[in-house]
Amino acid sequence: MEKKQSGTGTDTDSVPKKVPFLNRIDLSSPDIHQSVSLLKQACLDSGIFYVINHGISEELMEEVFEQNKKFFGLPLSEKMKVLRNEKHRGYTPLFDEILDPDNQVHGDLKEGYYIGVEVPEDDPKAEKPFYAPNVWPSDDILPGWRHTMEKYHLEALEVARAIARIIALALDLEADFFDKQEILGQPLAFLRLLKYPGQISDPSNGLYGAGAHTDYGLITLLATDDVYGLQICKDKYAQPQVWEFIAPLKGAFIVNLGDMLERWSNCLFKSTLHRVLGNGQERYSIAYFVEPSYDCLVECLPTCKSAKNPPKFPPVMYGDYLGQRYKDTHIDLNVYNKLQS
Ligand code: OGA
Ligand code: NI
Repeated sequence: MEKKQSGTGTDTDSVPKKVPFLNRIDLSSPDIHQSVSLLKQACLDSGIFYVINHGISEELMEEVFEQNKKFFGLPLSEKMKVLRNEKHRGYTPLFDEILDPDNQVHGDLKEGYYIGVEVPEDDPKAEKPFYAPNVWPSDDILPGWRHTMEKYHLEALEVARAIARIIALALDLEADFFDKQEILGQPLAFLRLLKYPGQISDPSNGLYGAGAHTDYGLITLLATDDVYGLQICKDKYAQPQVWEFIAPLKGAFIVNLGDMLERWSNCLFKSTLHRVLGNGQERYSIAYFVEPSYDCLVECLPTCKSAKNPPKFPPVMYGDYLGQRYKDTHIDLNVYNKLQS
């Protein structure tokens, strides 16, 4: 049998030679028209762009990466003490998630940690899926960890709101359209710490750091270290698919569009198909999923439909959509209960 080569070719080169140019949206720029125009162009073209001068300090970004490394460096037994629960908070071991089941031989080769919006147990909202108190590693083991993550969670939400105002303008809406209570007023924002071990992915054999997927909500703010790994496919309906690496940019966010933005905009803006390939080096990233509230009804925007262009999707309750997507892509928690008993 012919042996397939792996670890060669552009798919796994550690530093790709050619990467697509991405627009940079400068959140400190007073020229809002220029920001709207750059963002709109990026959303129509690829659904991905950089956000620079976002206001989160370098110190805080570095601190989050440091704390991220410290957590994943703990022994597995310690990490399993904060295993993800049914409200999607806590540690996700290797292979827990499988983002592209049709093309993967097993789950994603990555570890993760979900941190949601903090909702006290006695808050009526906590009766719903996805709303709950967070779970935290013990302060004796990782001093200051919770404080760092909570601070980052709050600041990232403000960045998300600022970007959402530019998106609203790009869709001919009032700037505060997404600030509504049911959208970003009380969102379901998830911070997700990620670590990809130093193994080489092999797409031709169904092995990925993260399988091809689109994110579910409005947008995702991604901070990465300087190791290449993230790829996008600009035209998700083309065959064969063409994958391009996205260059890390220190201090910036890589922002991609989620499925709800595709639905709101009636496919004017499409959610970005992306995946992660391991290249043999460990890689850390920090994703912040900006999602509307559980009860938000997402339906085609008035500015994105007409008699000639009727809505392509029926309205959907975001919580239902998210619940289904999580169910499709995560191991049943009972598997862990069985392993531990
Ligand atoms: C994700 C994701 C990309 C990365 O977690 O949804 O696409 O670079 N992450 O870690
Ligand atoms: Ni993603």
